[in-house]
Amino acid sequence: MDSVKIVNLTKRFGENTVLSHFDESFHEGEFVTLLGPSGCGKTTMLRILAGFEKPTEGEVYIGGVLVTGPKTFVPPEKRRIGMVFQSYAVWPHMNVWQNVAYPLQIQKLSKDETNQKVARALEMTHLTQYACRTPDSLSGGQQQRVALARALVGSPSLLLLDEPLSNLDAKLRESMRYEIKEIQQALGMTVVYVTHDRTEAMAMSDRILLINGGVVQQSGTPREIYNRPVNPFVADFLGRVDFFRGEIRNGRVFFEEMGGQSIPCKEERTGPADVAVRPENVVLRDDGPIEGKIESLFYLGDVTDLRVRAGDALIRLTAPGSLIDEVKPGHPVRLDFKNCLYFDKGTASEEALGIKT
Ligand SMILES: Nc1ncnc2c1ncn2[C@@H]1O[C@H](COP(=O)(O)OP(=O)(O)OP(=O)(O)O)[C@@H](O)[C@H]1O
Ligand SMILES: [Mg+2]
Repeated sequence: MDSVKIVNLTKRFGENTVLSHFDESFHEGEFVTLLGPSGCGKTTMLRILAGFEKPTEGEVYIGGVLVTGPKTFVPPEKRRIGMVFQSYAVWPHMNVWQNVAYPLQIQKLSKDETNQKVARALEMTHLTQYACRTPDSLSGGQQQRVALARALVGSPSLLLLDEPLSNLDAKLRESMRYEIKEIQQALGMTVVYVTHDRTEAMAMSDRILLINGGVVQQSGTPREIYNRPVNPFVADFLGRVDFFRGEIRNGRVFFEEMGGQSIPCKEERTGPADVAVRPENVVLRDDGPIEGKIESLFYLGDVTDLRVRAGDALIRLTAPGSLIDEVKPGHPVRLDFKNCLYFDKGTASEEALGIKT
């Protein structure tokens, strides 16, 4: 059975259509991430699932039960969902233990069971030592974990998380990613996770829904949408990428900006195309088909970021960190492109990519 089913859902605020004809199902135990730029409707979707917002049209089913429809509305407290909101709220007058225990007390669980569940939730979120502290004596990241523990404590079958790691520092953020994932797998929960951080989405999700302009641009596993993006917006949002204008003919693609230099190309189509190349797919090779000069180098420890000038084009690539000792700006190099992605001409315009100039 699907854990969540959203049918033809549209949400408008006045004239502003925030979500348009949203049709999606999430399986039981699936970790689904809603990813997209600020304002694309992620929080609105979660609020609709939670029952804090009504859609303009459409239906929502949770665990096979209609919870939102033209004539049906199940209030949030009856949906048995765990939630952490973007502006998470922990109760300032209760200590950490009481905050986390609260949802269980509402459910009138026995004292023993409550103690056991709270202890487990605090342990999972590394808060055991803070149990008696009040929120005002905790850091933002610790408070965020209290909100997470409170959402987890009732072992909900559906957990909605809206940017739950946004207040954590980079290191804690990374370790919490894996911890949330482990907790989710251990408890077999369905998670709908919201973020605009693509790395977070890639690391955690079984499936990513990339949303832009109120519609799902692509739905797929992290690898599918990274390696086979359906349009330039998806390619660009999911990782670093450069777009070049190309012309495909006779089994090669010619790059006008690179002075007509070309590489072999297995695409069936011919004619103009927008060609996307990710920096990690650009390789330095003595017999590479593209000739250029190093314009700049940035040493990042594990890798060195390079920019190579070929005609009018600036090509980014990622090389091993040690390269910094071998080459300098101005150095001539030869390159090859692997795994190019081909899109219709003009689809990689700055407007299509949402780049404001
Ligand atoms: N109550 C409301 N009344 C009117 N407009 C709203 C309301 N709530 C949200 N919006 C608008 O809906 C759009 C989507 O908002 P939403 O909060 O869902 O975006 P988001 O994807 O969560 O963005 P962010 O990444 O910044 O949190 C925005 O344009 C926002 O201004
Ligand atoms: Mg939001």
